[in-house]
Amino acid sequence: MLTRSMAMKGLPYFTVGKVVKGFGRGSKDLGIPTANFPDEVVNDLPEDIGTGVYYGWATVDNGPVHKMVMSIGWNPYFKNSKKSMETHILHAFGTDFYGSQLRICIIGYVRPEMDFWTLDDLITTIKNDIDTANRQLDTAEMKAFKDHAFFQSEIIDNKIVNGNTYYIN
Ligand SMILES: Cc1cc2nc3c(=O)[nH]c(=O)nc-3n(C[C@H](O)[C@H](O)[C@H](O)COP(=O)(O)O)c2cc1C
Repeated sequence: MLTRSMAMKGLPYFTVGKVVKGFGRGSKDLGIPTANFPDEVVNDLPEDIGTGVYYGWATVDNGPVHKMVMSIGWNPYFKNSKKSMETHILHAFGTDFYGSQLRICIIGYVRPEMDFWTLDDLITTIKNDIDTANRQLDTAEMKAFKDHAFFQSEIIDNKIVNGNTYYIN
């Protein structure tokens, strides 16, 4: 099993991509909207960032930088056959933002992905993850990443970033 320290190894991790449609269960079945990354972004993840729940910062189309919590993996409860990276942003957006550019910085690990007996258990656990992320991101160490140059730089091409460094096309 992935330990906390192992999970921390590949962090911080910066990436960017266009928001694509997921299965659409996030808002509908869970009441927790998530933004999905396209396959190229998922396939680019280094091996040391394993499946699980992570937190960090996110921005949509160069807007304000918000807290985020994300799930990386196969969503065992829904038995997905495709690995996904789903970002829940701790901000109430008025509309969907499919096609927008989502920029994220992953800085902390919360837990491994899990299967659940009921949808309610999954929802309760995700709400706890959101609380955990919210608290962790208030620490000075984590807040520093909110002002990282990555969020201010102009990114023209979506092909970017790797591990602890990033480059602008
Ligand atoms: C913070 C967070 C934690 C999650 N943890 C799990 C998990 O442990 N197990 C799981 O099966 N799915 C987990 N999910 C994924 C949800 O099942 C997923 O968001 C939902 O299936 C919606 O997917 P869709 O947008 O592709 O429809 C998590 C999602 C988030 C945002």
